[in-house]
Amino acid sequence: MKKILVINGPNLNMLGKREPEIYGSRSLDDINRDLKTLGEKMGAEVDFFQSNVEGEIVTAIHSVLDGYDGCIINAGAYTHYSVAIHDAIAAVETKPFIEVHLSNVHTREEYRHKSMLSPVCKGVILGFGEKSYSLALKALCED
Ligand code: DQA
Repeated sequence: MKKILVINGPNLNMLGKREPEIYGSRSLDDINRDLKTLGEKMGAEVDFFQSNVEGEIVTAIHSVLDGYDGCIINAGAYTHYSVAIHDAIAAVETKPFIEVHLSNVHTREEYRHKSMLSPVCKGVILGFGEKSYSLALKALCED
């Protein structure tokens, strides 16, 4: 059975309340519940971690090395400037990471166009709302 870790970064605990016209009306708990069910259907165990603190996200990424077969990460705003999160993923490069975003960051402000994570991730899925996560889970399970 594959073990997958889903990491969400800053402000994603506010989903449902936060700018719903961009991020939708469902909470992170709602999204995670559906991912857990999808994982069960595909024979994967899915764990979840959310933090607003960069260093805690770095530590969660390190846990993928010995504890998981792959990782789905939405690092929120850290995506665009965190060298520490880039380096953490690079340190665990033997495991596949998929970068996800709810919104299509390329249609938004210019400062969201750059990702520090894409160069060290296996793939990137963005712009499909909460479906970005389920597409990433399918990609990892079918890999
Ligand atoms: C986001 C896009 C980021 O630019 C933003 O800072 C977020 C959410 C997304 O899922 O669309 O917090 O990662």
